[in-house]
Amino acid sequence: MNEISVRVRRRTPGRGRLLAGVLTVATVIASLAVTTLARAEPSGPPGTTLKAAAERSGRYFGAAMGRDRLSDNGFLTIANREFDMMTAVNEMKPDATQPNRGQFDFRAGDAIYNWAVQRGMRVRGHTLAWHAQQPRFWSTLSGGALRTAMIDHINGVMTHYRGKLAAWDVVNEAFAENGSRRSSNLQSTGNDWIEVAFRTARNADPSVKLCYNDYNIENWTYAKTQGVYNMIRDFKARGVPIDCVGLQTHFTGGSSLPGNFQTTLSSFAALGVDVALTEADVTNASASQYQGLTQACMNVPRCIGITTWGIRDSDSWRGNENPLLFDRNSNPKSAYTSVLNALNAASTTVPGTTPSSPGPSSSTPPVSEPSGPCTATYRMTNSWGGGFQGEVTVTNTASGTRNGWTVTLTLPGGQTLVNVWNAVNTGTSGTVTFRNAAHNGSLGANASTSFGFVANGSGGTAPGNLGCTSP
Ligand code: XIL
Repeated sequence: MNEISVRVRRRTPGRGRLLAGVLTVATVIASLAVTTLARAEPSGPPGTTLKAAAERSGRYFGAAMGRDRLSDNGFLTIANREFDMMTAVNEMKPDATQPNRGQFDFRAGDAIYNWAVQRGMRVRGHTLAWHAQQPRFWSTLSGGALRTAMIDHINGVMTHYRGKLAAWDVVNEAFAENGSRRSSNLQSTGNDWIEVAFRTARNADPSVKLCYNDYNIENWTYAKTQGVYNMIRDFKARGVPIDCVGLQTHFTGGSSLPGNFQTTLSSFAALGVDVALTEADVTNASASQYQGLTQACMNVPRCIGITTWGIRDSDSWRGNENPLLFDRNSNPKSAYTSVLNALNAASTTVPGTTPSSPGPSSSTPPVSEPSGPCTATYRMTNSWGGGFQGEVTVTNTASGTRNGWTVTLTLPGGQTLVNVWNAVNTGTSGTVTFRNAAHNGSLGANASTSFGFVANGSGGTAPGNLGCTSP
């Protein structure tokens, strides 16, 4: 628990400005319930864990952990059972990853990363450029020198994690409550610092999803939400690379679940970005608010997943507010049940994913036509006893734009896929095909994209018969 951060959060808008009396929430939840009467697409039995329930609709359910939790068996047991996405609470932040200029330290971040991927989870990177938790030497810099330091930092960290992460929060909390940019040393380097960060990030790791992440952007009519929305719209219009918006979803007494949360999510998504709830916690774990925030996400196809900022109340940075889904004795609370039920009742699936139970969107076999000049190259990005992580880069070698690709490869005996991202697989062992995901099928002339996977077995032998066809 960090007092400074809690104080920062408390400066967030007052109870009156940011909606939501109990009655409003109740009304909204009632109306949301009407919109989800249609049966969820995935068939099959409901999931009995958060991750199983989320995966039915192609979504994930994540948590955040600090390095100290790696020796906390109570935490690890729940994490392993319930979650399929992990975020490092502090260990991938700028002050942690580059304590001194040019001296990067990935030990703590890697420890969390390795623990998670070795259990088939994916990892969100958090965060690269932020006004808080900066390397101490940044405080001695300004102007062009600080800009250069930011670029160097993004390149250094993203090179280390290249091809390994599901997403990066490239820029965190860059807006003020009134919808203008937050004043900070980074903002003082010029208003274009955010787009420079995103362009740098895309070059450093073309395969990872690049997110803007912030708090108090859940209420659609709130000035800060509109400020962020306008920036994302501008980025999309001008071709600044951005793939996702993270809504932290810290609901306190002063900023509880807004009645228009689903409108916010769908409005961002309509700009052509994924949305995710990245740091959810709710004062006293209100079951109705947890139900409502989950249901809002389930109603928006491009809402790809939810992360809670910790697992048990004893893990929370707001621990005295008991805001998480598990109590201090590791018991699930009533909010857990409401989240689980809302996940299982999802009315939409994430485009381009394979929901864990067969539904209409996942039942079409991939089409392979021997038409396309594209190439696929493989590299192993990480390995450990009993498993490894691989990355395949797909390049369009044609002179025109290619819409859709399919990669085929043969996994040697003993290798079995446990997790795939940025592509949709058919099969998990032997000959496997990977079809492009919704966001990376279109490749301009000579353009490349990558997808990744985690597999059980020894990665010592690379896949054979690697081929790429189009679409
Ligand atoms: C918090 C951590 O939970 C604390 O341990 C740390 O002292 C301060 O940062 N928004 C974010 C997160 O993006 O990085 C913050 O995490 C919580 C608010």
